[in-house]
Amino acid sequence: MSRIRTAGLLKKKRNGEKITALTAYDSSFAKLFHECGVDVLLIGDSLGMVLQGLDSTVPVTIDEVAYHTRCVRAGSSDAFVIADMPFMTYPEPLIACENAAELMRAGANMVKLEGGDWLVETVQALTRQGIPVCAHIGLLPQSVNVIGGYKVQGRDEASAQALVDHALALEAAGAQLLVVECIPTHVGKRISDALNIPVIGIGAGKETDGQILVMHDMLGMNADYLPKFTKDFLAQGGSLRGAVSAYVEEVHQGKFPAPEHCFD
Ligand code: KIV
Ligand code: NA
Repeated sequence: MSRIRTAGLLKKKRNGEKITALTAYDSSFAKLFHECGVDVLLIGDSLGMVLQGLDSTVPVTIDEVAYHTRCVRAGSSDAFVIADMPFMTYPEPLIACENAAELMRAGANMVKLEGGDWLVETVQALTRQGIPVCAHIGLLPQSVNVIGGYKVQGRDEASAQALVDHALALEAAGAQLLVVECIPTHVGKRISDALNIPVIGIGAGKETDGQILVMHDMLGMNADYLPKFTKDFLAQGGSLRGAVSAYVEEVHQGKFPAPEHCFD
């Protein structure tokens, strides 16, 4: 499978074809995911939780994300790979550019940052330097200590509208992709309809242009923790390949996420 690029993702949105994404942290899984037709691989700072056993993404460093980006790239030379900018690696545009460069050198095709319109100058600076940006709004795990927990965002009209406004500002600044996390289905739809760029959701309902899950969650690795918005595809698919293929197929067919995986 050849690499899908930003233009390919945009085309999928225009054609109403759902985009599939999964997190990946190593070469073996990256290779398998790519072979199963997953469009986008994300080296998420969720690695702090699922690989390092921490209780948040806050301690994750740029070197750690760069290391895992190299691993993913080594396993899937043709995959479209996004790397997360960790906590406090983009407090201002110049610092963001320097840190993002580390991830690009490690093999990323795009970097992702958490936040709204306060990142406009940073997104502009990155894009001007040749670094494509995926923005990330809704629940912002790097801000868990400010928010006070992992909660659904955008539930009232004012905060839903604020999310739409942030999304539009980030798109205007040059972001080429947007991740929306833990928001009601109707807000996911509103943001996807308002934007030209593709919107990929996690816990954001079935109306977004694509879906992303943390690989460990969709494989049901942690018996004590299966968030509402995810599903154990390994139980259903019977094998790793079966699980990933089932995920890809159900997203394409609009079967995942089902109502029980969504917030309203
Ligand atoms: O770190 C991560 O895995 C993410 C996804 C949940 C979107 O940011
Ligand atoms: Na992340």
